[in-house]
Amino acid sequence: MKIFIDSAEVGEVEKYISWGLCDGVTTNPSICLKSGVKGGEEGIKKRALEIAALIAPRPLSVEVTTDKIDEILVEARKYNAWAENISVKVTITDRNGSSLLPAIYQLVSEGISVNVTAMMTFNQAILAAKAINAGLSKSQVKKTHFISIFAGRISEEHGVEQAQKVLKEVRQWLDFHNYKNIEIIVGSVRSPENVDLWSKSGAHILTIPPEVIAKCLLSARTKETVVQFLDDANKALQQL
Ligand code: E4P
Repeated sequence: MKIFIDSAEVGEVEKYISWGLCDGVTTNPSICLKSGVKGGEEGIKKRALEIAALIAPRPLSVEVTTDKIDEILVEARKYNAWAENISVKVTITDRNGSSLLPAIYQLVSEGISVNVTAMMTFNQAILAAKAINAGLSKSQVKKTHFISIFAGRISEEHGVEQAQKVLKEVRQWLDFHNYKNIEIIVGSVRSPENVDLWSKSGAHILTIPPEVIAKCLLSARTKETVVQFLDDANKALQQL
């Protein structure tokens, strides 16, 4: 299983690279807003280029800022030209629930890596996988594409086990049909308990916010044990 860092903070990404925990980075407009990306498209480009260079050849997902198919195509082609390791994030539907699969299929067939995002159901995920697979069969370039299932948001409505069920079933479905070059990303990871559960779902990737990764290391008993070892090390050294 891979770990992506769900953040647009350069310092956080650097930190988790140095911990050996960064297999990629995901961003979205809310994450960019939170981390103070300013200056419109130029600002997004600047931050994306910085992170893409830092993590290359690992993938960086950057989300389009529109839900209109013609505009998505224009934006996605631009993002794709920024760096070799950029994957373009497109939501599965527009704000009204209309399909954005035409854009997804078209971009994949042009050899642009796509991350289909904001998915909450098994049906959405397999239809996204079908469109990607169809695009791949037309494309000369076999890049990796992603399907992002927002497990945390599913859990808020239906519980963590329902999210687990969706993740497991989508993985089984991809394997059963022998789909290649498509990886499941678990999004909306909110807690160490989520990491514990969804790491066992069969999803290829968990994208985790920095604060949740830090919490995954914490245990009061570990801290207590470290203090005991250090105290005893000190005593032992004095005896020698
Ligand atoms: C990742 O790719 C997603 O954009 C992110 O995990 C969504 O998280 P949220 O549900 O906390 O906004």
